[in-house]
Amino acid sequence: MHGGLIMDIWHIRGGRRLEGNLRVQGSKNASLPILAASVLCPLRCELLNVPRLSDTDAALRILEHLGCTVARDRDRVYIDSTTLSCSAVPHSLMAEMRSSVIFMGALLARCGEARLSLPGGCQLGKRPIDLHLAALRKLGADIEEDDNELHCRARRLQGTEIALPFPSVGATENALLAACGARGETLIRGAAREPEIAALADFLRAMGAEIRGAGSDTIRLTAFHPKRDLCFRIPSDRIAAATFACAAAGCGGDVTLCGLDPIQISAVLHFLNAAGCDIITFNHALRLRADRRLRAVGPVVTAPYPGFPTDAQPLLMAALLRAEGRSLIRETIFEQRFRQAPELCRLGAQIRVKGQTAEILGVRELHGAALHATDLRGGAAMILAGLAAGGETVVLDEGHVRRGYEDFDRSLESLGAEIILEN
Ligand code: UD1
Repeated sequence: MHGGLIMDIWHIRGGRRLEGNLRVQGSKNASLPILAASVLCPLRCELLNVPRLSDTDAALRILEHLGCTVARDRDRVYIDSTTLSCSAVPHSLMAEMRSSVIFMGALLARCGEARLSLPGGCQLGKRPIDLHLAALRKLGADIEEDDNELHCRARRLQGTEIALPFPSVGATENALLAACGARGETLIRGAAREPEIAALADFLRAMGAEIRGAGSDTIRLTAFHPKRDLCFRIPSDRIAAATFACAAAGCGGDVTLCGLDPIQISAVLHFLNAAGCDIITFNHALRLRADRRLRAVGPVVTAPYPGFPTDAQPLLMAALLRAEGRSLIRETIFEQRFRQAPELCRLGAQIRVKGQTAEILGVRELHGAALHATDLRGGAAMILAGLAAGGETVVLDEGHVRRGYEDFDRSLESLGAEIILEN
């Protein structure tokens, strides 16, 4: 995916409890569509709490390629899209991450045209974009696909009613972005309800859009009166929050996470609690204590929000490897999302995968081993499992984990983990 250019080697000495406080990073999956939205109209905007990740860097490189002026100072990003001069994203930039496909809706709205190659991203199965294309076509776009390239044109986008047969996050975002460039009202039925959709709608409202219903399954965009300047804060990353909660659950410990909205990970907290963790939630924080051997849980079934997030599935799996009894996890969103399982078994875990179901027979001890990261959350799950295993674990990672976690090694270290990142 990164042309083999990056090799991160995570060295972990496991077996330590995790203790302490941690502020959760800004959301990767909220940042990406918001960065794309910045090209919707000529705009100068300042974004706060943008996580420093290779995926957000890739989105900023796309903005620069399109002619925007971009500056970054730690978690602040400044974008001037008044200088936009191009509506094509080359393959080299598209290949870096799948979510670059949401530039399609934004560019179409701004330029009446967009040329993109088919996206990259984690290899979790088929990951088609048919729903994105159908939504944009419904708004009046003419889309030609040839040789892995998409060419979208629309002399005029027209507001309409879009019914998504599945609540795809990316398709909902693309539809919303393109609808900002359409005349008249757009109604999206069957929309994804993920918090990242609500975050995008908040940003679009700050940009001058009139939107109701984001966060529910029916979103209505009635008008767009673009503003010229704005400042917006990216909300916290619910999957990063779930990651540290699962880390403490798997290792044992007492961890307080702050700067997050615990309601957004209720489905994850529910199972961590059922497994025996003590969890107290506050408005923008949570405390998780794990003092005893965990109990097996399940079936855990991944589902669109507010169901159990597919992105947290490998992380919960890592936490349950030493739980007493038999846990069951069923993956319903992506076909190939148990790729971490054979790697986790190298640590002594007992996981049987049959189709879309994984059965985890809890073992008393895990032992260190050398593992190979398969994808972003799978790689993070291997690191969590390594932290819970005795001895040394090495995770070889071709840049997957840095796509989604800012200073992952330092954050875990601040909780008492022994982890060194070599690159
Ligand atoms: C987003 C998240 C990703 C998360 C996923 C599901 C970002 C950048 N990524 O990905 O981390 O795992 O939501 O919560 O926000 N599908 C189709 N046709 C389409 C689009 C999707 O069949 O046109 C299918 C996919 O193959 C998959 C399912 O719908 O099986 C969910 O995909 P979707 O919600 O679109 O996920 P992403 O937006 O790609």
